[in-house]
This record gives sequence, structure tokens and C-alpha cells, in this order.
Amino acid sequence: MQPSEAKHKPVVFSGIQPTGKMHIGNYIGALSVWAENQSKYDNIFCIVDLHALTIPEAIKPEYLRHKVVEFAALYIACGIDPEQSAIFIQSHVPAHAELTWLLNCVTPLGWLERMTQYKSKSAHQESVGTGLLAYPVLQAADILLYNTNLVPVGDDQRQHVELTRDIAQRFAFLYGETFVTPELLIRRSGARIMGLDDPTVKMSKSLGEQRPEHSIGLVDEPGVIRRTVARAVTDTARETRFEHASAGVLNLLTIYEALSGETRPAIEARFAGGGYGDLKRQLTELLVETLAPIRKRYQDLMTDPTELDIILRTGAAKVAPVAEATLTRVKRAMGCA
Ligand code: TYM
Repeated sequence: MQPSEAKHKPVVFSGIQPTGKMHIGNYIGALSVWAENQSKYDNIFCIVDLHALTIPEAIKPEYLRHKVVEFAALYIACGIDPEQSAIFIQSHVPAHAELTWLLNCVTPLGWLERMTQYKSKSAHQESVGTGLLAYPVLQAADILLYNTNLVPVGDDQRQHVELTRDIAQRFAFLYGETFVTPELLIRRSGARIMGLDDPTVKMSKSLGEQRPEHSIGLVDEPGVIRRTVARAVTDTARETRFEHASAGVLNLLTIYEALSGETRPAIEARFAGGGYGDLKRQLTELLVETLAPIRKRYQDLMTDPTELDIILRTGAAKVAPVAEATLTRVKRAMGCA
């Protein structure tokens, strides 16, 4: 492929907040999609440390510093290739914070108060920081800085990407066409993996850190995976058809489907009449097999933080000029330059 051809590939941007325990939901909904499609796109994958700061009571400086490195290693261990994709830390490119301010000034408060993630996160806090409310504006800045065409995310981020589109359109109304309007890229099945201990809630990095039975971590040992799957909530029926399964069983079937790539009829035939013991045994094997190379690569990468640091600095240096150019365009449009 000639460099000139590569320039015309659609731009993909996505990110993960470096907090909590990275789990198979993050892998299925986001990382595996990023990795699989890398050769088709111009890829930018960010570790969004500024987003992590929206809960300062929970996120200590040392914790955040460690998590950023851990998540960078996990990106690469899951197949993100630094040769094909820029990997960088959000705070290394100051344009993210600066564009956020400019976008704050065109975003109606009501749009932010309506965000379901804001409502659920703020509900459990005594006092709510401004950063938590403006969280989706920072996310919009992340996406819009890079002329992003596609944003591969799990289902829970759908509303934030739609808000990004709304902000881009409102900006165009006020100041003229300035941004590329991004599209969502969401997988048909597996975009919302549920908690293994409670299939009524989404599998989450923060709950995974608090409750070992909630999630399968990307670097969990085989013994831990076996125990967690064995304890996963099912029911007393023996129903292993997707359409008729209870929430817990459907979740296990969906994880199996996403990791195996098998069709639903093939999976239903595989588990027909076998009961949940069989499903759990085979799912455990599949998880162990999928995660073993990820754990190994992660451990190797964590022994050499210098290599990771170079990858992250190179990624930031590669994307910063694009971000700067967008920021200049936005400031000019608004009369700031
Ligand atoms: P975060 O860190 O909560 O999640 C990272 C990615 O994993 C997906 N995901 C899931 N997918 C399937 N099942 C689940 N249970 C599950 N849990 C999480 C998320 O949808 C996401 O794709 N605000 C974002 C980070 C962000 C971002 C961005 C994403 C900041 N700027 C710009 C895209 C573009 C977040 O907190 O994701």
C-alpha cells in the first residue's frame, strides 16, 4: 500500500478510561473490534486519563499513573499494533482540554443533564464535580479533533457519540461547517456484556474491582476464570436457545458467540440438551484459550516500561499535529485567533 492511499482510509478513534479492572466486556465490545479492523482504517486509540479525573475522590495520582501504563500494555496485548495504530495518552495532547472548553461554550446544559451515564454516576455522590457533567464534552473533543469517521464502542457509549454528533452540528449552525460528523461502529451482538454475578447490570470495570465474581478480567489466571464462570448466575431451566434463555444464560451464550465466531444455530446445536454445566465448561475453555496469549503478552510488556513509554510518546507525537490543526480551525471560526 502506498502512503498516499493510506491517507484516504477512514479515521477510527476510540478510547478507554484507565480505571478499574479491564474485562471481557471491554474486549468484546471495544478492543477486539479495534484490533480486527486495524488494516482497513487510520486508527487512533487513546487512554483517556483526563476522563478518569472526573472522580478525584476515587482516583489517586499513583493509581492513575500505574493504570495508564497497565492499559497501554493491555491495548497492545489485545492486538493493537503500534505500527498500524497510534496509541497515546489523552493528557499528552493539550488540544483535548482546550477544545473541551470551546465546545463547553456551545453545549446546552440540558443536553448534559440528560446523559444517562451522568445521571447514574452522579446519583451515588454527595457532591458532583463539574468535570463529571462535562465528561461527554471532553469525549466529543477527543473524537472531533481527529476528523474521525468511525467510533467503535460498546452500546453504553452510544449516547455520548450521538451527543458528539449533535455538538458538531450545533457548532456548524453557529460558526459554519468545521468538523467531520462521526458515525458509530457497534457490533451486532456482544455490545453489552452483563455482570456474571448480576445479569441485570452491565459488566463494569469499577464493579469488577470490588467484586471478583462480577467479571472476567483480561489477565485473570485460568483457575480464577474457572471459578468465576462456575459461579455465574443461571437459572433452574435447561434452556440454551438464544431467544428463550434467561438473562444470565443469554449473557454466557453471547460471550461464547463473540469469542468463538460460531453462528447462533451452531452454538444452540452444540449445547442442546447438555445443561448449563456443559455450557460453562466449554465457555471456560474458550475464555482460557482466548486470554492466555493476552496475559502472556501483557506480562512481557509490563517488564519493559521504557518500550511502552516510547510507544505512547510516538503515538502522541503522531496525532498532535492533526489535533493542533483542528484546534486552530475552531479558534479561527470562533474569533479566538
Ligand atoms: P469505558 O472505559 O467505560 O469503556 C471502554 C470501552 O468498552 C466498552 N464497554 C463494554 N462493551 C460491552 N460490554 C460491556 N459490559 C462494556 N463495558 C464497557 C465501552 O462501550 C467502551 O467502548 N467514555 C468512554 C471512553 C472514551 C471514549 C472517547 C470512547 C473517552 N473518549 C472517545 C470513544 C471515543 C468510557 O468511559 O469507556
